[in-house]
Amino acid sequence: MHLRPATADDFDLLAAMLLEAFNWDGQRRFTLDQLKAEDHAWRYVDGWMRAGDFGVVAELDSRPVGAAWARLLTADRPGYGYVSDDVPELSIGVSPDTRGQGVGRAVLTALVDAAREAAYERISLSVEPENRAAELYRSLGFRAVGRNGGSDTMVLDL
Ligand SMILES: CC(C)(COP(=O)(O)OP(=O)(O)OC[C@H]1O[C@@H](n2cnc3c(N)ncnc32)[C@H](O)[C@@H]1OP(=O)(O)O)[C@@H](O)C(=O)NCCC(=O)NCCS
Repeated sequence: MHLRPATADDFDLLAAMLLEAFNWDGQRRFTLDQLKAEDHAWRYVDGWMRAGDFGVVAELDSRPVGAAWARLLTADRPGYGYVSDDVPELSIGVSPDTRGQGVGRAVLTALVDAAREAAYERISLSVEPENRAAELYRSLGFRAVGRNGGSDTMVLDL
């Protein structure tokens, strides 16, 4: 597996991974077009890559198979895991055919390192408690700090 920083050219990949995140339980609740029409969802990738955006892409045999990325969202247009204007919120997705092989843990660990290098003090996310991704987050030290609808907001102190 090869890890590299995400670039502006990765927009389509991140949009595809965002779709995986919103369809996390395997039900195709959203199509890409429906996601684009949902401002609250699309704001995680809209205009990528903006100043301050950062991310990590995993490739297997030169094929992108997963990504984790983060951006600052603001109180007037927050993400589901919004904590504060100075706490980036992350998103993560791995292609269905390459899950369970360590890709998710690798991109997330690298993203956390990048957030630390950028001198952020915390990074946040939103996860539905039934999602096994929550186990991955807890194993890296994320802890639940609140609830938004049916989802937990989790934070890692960097
Ligand atoms: C969550 C996700 C990113 C994990 O990526 P992955 O490459 O499958 O994960 P890894 O192989 O690195 O496993 C990391 C941990 O995830 C958990 N996990 C294992 N198998 C899993 C599975 N089939 N589905 C979800 N989580 C799993 C385990 O806690 C695992 O810990 P381990 O390293 O001790 O085995 C990936 O399953 C995915 O894209 N899911 C759909 C999108 C999504 O849910 N995004 C997050 C929304 S909050």
